[in-house]
Amino acid sequence: MTTVCVVGAGAREHALAVALARTASVVVAPGNPGITALSPSIRCTSQPVEDIDADLFVIGPEVPLVGGLADRLRGRGKLVLGPGADGAQVEGSKAWMKELLVSAGVPTAAHGTFDAEAPAVAFLRRLTGDGPYVVKTDGLAAGKGVLVTASIDEAIDDVRTKLSGSAFGVAGTRVVIEEGLVGDELSVMALCDGTGAAPLAAAQDFKRAGEGDTGPNTGGMGAFSPVPGAGDDLVDTVMDTAVLPTLAALRRRGIDYRGVLYAGIMLTADGPRVLEFNVRFGDPEAQVVLSRWQGDVAAQLAAAAGGSLGPAPSFSDQAAVCVVLAAEGYPAQPRTGDVITGWEAAATMEGVQIYAAAVDQDSWGLTTSGGRVLSVSALGDTLSDARDRAYAAAGVIDWPGRQLRRDIAARATVGVNRS
Ligand code: AMP
Ligand code: GLY
Repeated sequence: MTTVCVVGAGAREHALAVALARTASVVVAPGNPGITALSPSIRCTSQPVEDIDADLFVIGPEVPLVGGLADRLRGRGKLVLGPGADGAQVEGSKAWMKELLVSAGVPTAAHGTFDAEAPAVAFLRRLTGDGPYVVKTDGLAAGKGVLVTASIDEAIDDVRTKLSGSAFGVAGTRVVIEEGLVGDELSVMALCDGTGAAPLAAAQDFKRAGEGDTGPNTGGMGAFSPVPGAGDDLVDTVMDTAVLPTLAALRRRGIDYRGVLYAGIMLTADGPRVLEFNVRFGDPEAQVVLSRWQGDVAAQLAAAAGGSLGPAPSFSDQAAVCVVLAAEGYPAQPRTGDVITGWEAAATMEGVQIYAAAVDQDSWGLTTSGGRVLSVSALGDTLSDARDRAYAAAGVIDWPGRQLRRDIAARATVGVNRS
C-alpha cells in the first residue's frame, strides 16, 4: 500500500488524511492529538518531515511551502504535491502575485504596492468608485492581514500600523492597497502538474469572524460546496481566465508548479476577478471539497506531483457544509486550555465528520490549543440537509467561550445570493 505523509497540523490536514486513507496508509506530521482521537487509523508523528519515509508528501500549509520544504524533499528524491519556494511566492508576497497576474493578463483589482506611508495615503485618497478601501500585508499573516473598510480614516490608520511592523512584523512593512470590489466570493482550487490543471469542485468560504460577514477577517469560519450558481461554465471561465494563464506565466519564469493553486474569486458585475491566489488547499474549503471527491485521491495527487495529471477528479452529487468551532477571542487573542466535550457523540452522527485543528490532549481529555479548534463537516443530499447535520453536530460540542457563525451556507440553502 502507498504511504502518504501529510504535512501540517490542522483540520485541512485531517481532512486530507481522511480522504487519502481511503486508498493509502497515512501519516500526518505533526498533526495533533485530536486527529488520532477522531480517526484512530491515522498516525501522527513528531519526526522531522525530511526523515519520514513515504511514497508521496502532501504539504498542507503555506508557511513550509514558502520556506522551501518541497524543494528540500524533492532534493532527496521524494514525490511532493506542493510548489517549491519559487512558486510559493504567489502566496508569500501579494506584491509579487499581483505583478504576476498583471503580466499574465488575469483580471484582478487595480492596486499599488507601498513601503512608505505618504505615497500609500495619497493612493488611498485617489481611489474612486463605490467599493471599500482594501489594505493588505504583502507577506503571510494567516488570513488576518487584510482590512476591508468603508472608512478612509480606518484605512489610513491601518496602513500606518502595518508599515510600523507593530501588528504583523516584517510581513506588513510593505502593503498592497487595492481597489475595493463588490460581489459574491467563490473559491476555485485546481490540481496542477506543472503544465496542466484540473479544477476541483467550487466552494465558498466565510472569512469574517461575525455573522452577516461582519468583524475581522479570519482564516475561515466555514465553507460549503457545491455553490449554487457556480456551475461548470463559471469554473471553466475561472480556469481559462485566471488559473491556466497564471500557470503559464509561472512556467515562463521557469517555475514548475506542481500542487494546488487556489483562486479566491470575486464575482463582480464585470465578471470574475481574482482577489488572491493561495498555493495550497483552502482551509476550510478542503474539508468540504475532499469529502465530495470521488475515487482514488492518493493516486490523483501522486499523478499531479509526478507531472502527469491523468483523468480529472470527479465529485459526488452530495453537498457538504463545514462549520468551524473557534475559541473565545479568536482571531485577536484566542483563549486556550479548555476541555472539549461532546465530540465523541457528535462524531457518530449521520453524515458527520469532525476534523481537529487547534486541539491538544491532557489527562482530562481533548483541550483547545488555539483559535480555530474543530471543523464540523457534514454531507447530505442537499445543502440544506448537510447544513442541518453540521449544525446539529456542532450543537453537541462545547467548551467555555466556544464561538461559531450560525449563518454558514444559510443564504445558499434558500437560493439567495450573498451580495
Ligand atoms: P485575501 O486574503 O486577499 O483573499 O483577502 C481576504 C478577504 O478580503 C477576501 O476574501 C475578501 O472578502 C476581502 N477582499 C480582498 N481583496 C478585496 C478587494 N480588492 N475588494 C473587496 N474585498 C476584498
Ligand atoms: N479559506 C481561505 C484560505 O484557506 O486561505
